[in-house]
Amino acid sequence: MAAALAAAGADVVIGDVLEDEGAETAAALRESGARAEFVRLDVTDDGGWAEAVGIAVEAIGGLDVLVNNAGVVHTDPIERLSEADYRKVVDVNQVGVFLGMKAVLPSMRRAGSGSIVNISSIGGIIAFPGILGYVASKWAVRGMTKAAAQEFGRLLAQDEQIHAAYRIIRDAILFTDRRLILIDKQGMTGRKVEYHSIPYRGITHFSVETAGTFDLDAELKIWLSGSAEPIAKQFGKGADVYEVQALLSTYAAR
Ligand SMILES: NC(=O)c1ccc[n+]([C@@H]2O[C@H](COP(=O)([O-])OP(=O)(O)OC[C@H]3O[C@@H](n4cnc5c(N)ncnc54)[C@H](O)[C@@H]3O)[C@@H](O)[C@H]2O)c1
Repeated sequence: MAAALAAAGADVVIGDVLEDEGAETAAALRESGARAEFVRLDVTDDGGWAEAVGIAVEAIGGLDVLVNNAGVVHTDPIERLSEADYRKVVDVNQVGVFLGMKAVLPSMRRAGSGSIVNISSIGGIIAFPGILGYVASKWAVRGMTKAAAQEFGRLLAQDEQIHAAYRIIRDAILFTDRRLILIDKQGMTGRKVEYHSIPYRGITHFSVETAGTFDLDAELKIWLSGSAEPIAKQFGKGADVYEVQALLSTYAAR
């Protein structure tokens, strides 16, 4: 996440409980020419957020975007899931997002703009067994994001949430709560980028062609109303094209 933001030209402050890994990531980004800092941050700690925001504003002179990315998962069936383990997941994934939004809003308000990106999950749309706390917290993140957007409008980016994102060889495909966004990187260096915004209702048909196993390349084709030729995207080995197909079925049927 930090590397992608730095590659897109952002000055980055990384907050994480993993001090060595965080400091190493920031150092590697600096070596590649980016401006990057690390601050130890436990997202469940209100005081830590205040300190991290202060450092961000001081180190990079402002705070335009917060990405609430920290997340944990605990796997246990409900009967064996302890209250402590349930609370731990909710504390990081849900309360951490709340504290993060609360901490950055004053400086975004002062600046008159800002974007907050809260990372939910497919588990915030579809329920999965064995990860009750994770599913509950990610559904909560979606709800909190919508509620916050109602309160702060465009200050929190737009009222649009990314539900899932996949990298496809050089390109990317994003499922938001409203549309499919295809990101095409073009040219030798891939520096030219084209964004296609596709409303789900425009999808008339889609297909997945595979050689029958997860280990081989797969091709996703999407037909849009009004155009005879499909958009074709090649998925590399190991990419879960069946998951993408399941999401398309869910959204295109809306
Ligand atoms: N990996 C996936 O397939 C997937 C799918 C959907 C959503 N997500 C979400 O994307 C986000 C990133 O996931 P990831 O797969 O990169 O996980 P990851 O475990 O690689 O990264 C999560 C980071 O959060 C940090 N973290 C944990 N508790 C923290 C705390 N209390 N304070 C600060 N930092 C803390 C961890 O140290 C780690 O660096 C999470 O919110 C996750 O739920 C991941």
